Amino acid sequence: MQKLIIQGGSPLRGEITISGAKNAALPVLCASLLTRDTLQITNLPFLKDVTTMLALLEQMGTNVIANNPSEVALTAAHLSNPVAPYEMVKTMRAAILVLGPLLARTGEANISLPGGCAIGVRPVDQHIKGLQAMGAEIKIEHGYIHAVAKRLEGTRIVMDMVTVTGTENLMMAATLAAGTTILENAAREPEVVDLANCLVAMGAEICGAGSDIITIKGVKSLHGATHHVMPDRIETGTFLVAGAASGGEILLKRACNKTLDAILDKLLEAGATIETEENQVSLKMNTKPKSVNFRTAPYPAFPTDMQAQFLAMNCIADGTAIVTETIFENRFMHVQELKRMNANIEVEGNTAIVRGIKQLDGANVMATDLRASASLVIAGLIAQGETVIDRIYHLDRGYEQIEKKLSQLGVQIKRIQ
Ligand code: EPU
Repeated sequence: MQKLIIQGGSPLRGEITISGAKNAALPVLCASLLTRDTLQITNLPFLKDVTTMLALLEQMGTNVIANNPSEVALTAAHLSNPVAPYEMVKTMRAAILVLGPLLARTGEANISLPGGCAIGVRPVDQHIKGLQAMGAEIKIEHGYIHAVAKRLEGTRIVMDMVTVTGTENLMMAATLAAGTTILENAAREPEVVDLANCLVAMGAEICGAGSDIITIKGVKSLHGATHHVMPDRIETGTFLVAGAASGGEILLKRACNKTLDAILDKLLEAGATIETEENQVSLKMNTKPKSVNFRTAPYPAFPTDMQAQFLAMNCIADGTAIVTETIFENRFMHVQELKRMNANIEVEGNTAIVRGIKQLDGANVMATDLRASASLVIAGLIAQGETVIDRIYHLDRGYEQIEKKLSQLGVQIKRIQ
């Protein structure tokens, strides 16, 4: 298994370019199932989850042509195998995103039920409930979701909670349904808007994406299009926190500032100086960070995908921070590992109390999920001495060329087998 070795103590300095967003790319890849024509996707991040999704689409019958690692042309003219097997779904829960488009296009889908994962139980009842409301017959047998529908029918769906992939799945399914679908209590995440933009370019009729009510007027068929994936706001946030925690000065190019408000507010509160221009953001931190309290919640509030990284910064900040996780029930696994680096953190239920200390100590730690891994990288950067992070395959699922980008910012980091 590969590990990362980081020598801590040097402030991040320099500039890097932000990659396309993983959580926008994955649903956009699935949108290719909705048409016989070719969907060209650019600014695709080169990540493990993206290659897994491409392999999944390919085994269903999609023709995949990669012009280069960040550009792919997908043609799903003949879908011979509407199945997402367990072996693929177990490594990437986002495989559930093929359910809606596959059912809408071919009238059937057999998708392995995603199990729980490290950060929580993560049921998919809202995806199923929504498709049933649109007329699908769904059975769950032998760990698979078997869905059939002659043609889905538009209807009003009120989701019980805000779900990002749930909203995306139902929005894709509704594009080919008969009549109009209204999704209420929809997710407002920028990745939902990016997917809607792609679907509209393919001929879908969607309004309200980015608000909590999305209206989709079904059409008979969609056509080919070209879509440029939005920049990754979580990658951007992760590098900004790394810059702030290490007392650095960094410039991130090709970032999407409009999607970063909650993250930038907390960095300003921590004492950073931030400047934004149209497609870039720079951060300078001259002092030790101040502790910041926050509570995760659906967009536009503070994202759960940035909780672990800010928690790492709070470990060495001035003061005590109270961090509450409201989205996933088990997303504090990085705490145990940060404690191995001497952090002072107590967890009570869904709240972590982080008392800032002078410095973290380098140690051997283990990555448990994607964003937890990112928090350990940040902790390693600011710790005294060497940190060895094991199980970094989690990191490769969501951060493109992380060692290269960190090296560009002056960090001493290497990957070993
Ligand atoms: N939920 C249900 N039933 C459902 C769907 C969701 O109870 O049918 C619950 C979940 O268990 C969770 C909450 O609703 O407690 C929100 O989950 P959501 O469905 O929004 O999560 P997701 O769509 O599975 C996406 C991202 C996650 C990100 C969350 C929250 C993708 C591929 N994944 O997951 O990203 O944390 O939204 O913003 O878009 C990551 O990138 O590290 C990551 C985990």
